[in-house]
Amino acid sequence: MHEFHYKDGVLQCEDIPIAKIVGEYPTPFYLYSYRTLMDHFFKIKDAFKDVNPLICFSMKANSNLNICKALVNAGAGLDIVSGGELYKALKIGCPPNRIVYASVGKTEEEIKVAIGKGILSFNVESVPELIMINSVAKSLRKKAHAAIRLNPDVKPNTHDYITTGTKEKKFGIDFKRAEDIFDNANKYSHVALKGVHVHIGSQITEVAPFVASLKKVMEFLEKSNIPIEWLNIGGGFGIEYTKEKAATANDFAKEIIPLIKGKTYKLILEPGRFVVGSSGILVCKVLYIKTSSNDKKFAIVNAGMNDLLRPSLYNAHHEIFPLVKRDANNYKYDIVGPICESGDYLALDRELPELVAGDHLAVMNAGAYGFSMSSNYNSRPKLAEIMVINGEIRVIRLAEKYRDLIRGEKIIKDLK
Ligand code: LLP
Repeated sequence: MHEFHYKDGVLQCEDIPIAKIVGEYPTPFYLYSYRTLMDHFFKIKDAFKDVNPLICFSMKANSNLNICKALVNAGAGLDIVSGGELYKALKIGCPPNRIVYASVGKTEEEIKVAIGKGILSFNVESVPELIMINSVAKSLRKKAHAAIRLNPDVKPNTHDYITTGTKEKKFGIDFKRAEDIFDNANKYSHVALKGVHVHIGSQITEVAPFVASLKKVMEFLEKSNIPIEWLNIGGGFGIEYTKEKAATANDFAKEIIPLIKGKTYKLILEPGRFVVGSSGILVCKVLYIKTSSNDKKFAIVNAGMNDLLRPSLYNAHHEIFPLVKRDANNYKYDIVGPICESGDYLALDRELPELVAGDHLAVMNAGAYGFSMSSNYNSRPKLAEIMVINGEIRVIRLAEKYRDLIRGEKIIKDLK
């Protein structure tokens, strides 16, 4: 469900052949379809329209100012995890009362700025953090708004690194401690405990774990008679990286809405990947084809794990298509980058048509946790980000130059 498709054998982004973009801008680059982005935001908005939730796009998935601004302009709020994301959120004019802030390690300074700006909610991850928020709010003579992030101990079927709602993980607060917090809310005189939050993980393609966790949360709320203003059920809706089917926004809504309909509190959602994942691709070029002594074929491309970390870190599968379509996939390649690590790959043993140096490839579904997890490792400048919008090709982030690599570094006098 995206706007990257072949037309006459040439891969297009919306109505523009990507080969045309490659002719104008050097590869590698990230390429986004505005239409796909908005389409996915509205898929969630429409699916949940009966309960009119606040949809806070999770900036960690992609914090490009233009992507976030497009969503904010369409009515989204933002889910942030750092002072840096707060800075970017405010920069694009996101109303503070649409910003929610999670993270197990919010610093005193970050908390101070966020209270000063009047964000909608801190999603509180521990008692010491709550004490810190209370004391910062007190020193500012303000009342901070907060939700308790619950850890429901529910295990979704996803990669361990992105499982967050089981009891051995660092996130959230168990029900017993949470009850204790609400019972003793008057201890936190400068915090208004207005909601609860739960986020069990990412890339979850089934509805059942959401329902299981939500049921536990609602049971907790009912049992302890806690009056809340909002219930934030986090993000985590998965997308189809492979041919395996993922639940749709409607599938999620169909089961979640009945659980909360008629309640007095407002629903908040924090989707990241679902909104932006399929709206972006990574376009790169084959530099060399190399065959090893055991006849293994490597296609060495000009993008690496520093540009797209997901395959190396999570063994994640991203479809790879040549920009110009061929008849059959009759070769197997490891698609590898130029980084000096054997874990630097975009795909292993991938069936593709015969590739030659100079071919361009599209690494699909790279809009979420692609650029946002990229780094300068091996002193490689970060990539440009380009967006197709209303039939135009727009650069939404310039590629870094070598001089950007030394920004902030200083040669000290002590060196001989
Ligand atoms: N809310 C909270 C509190 C989160 O921790 C996250 C993601 C989200 C919302 C958004 O989740 P989403 O809807 O995007 O699944 N780098 C990993 C994903 C890490 C997700 C971290 N938390 C990856 O590339 O798969």
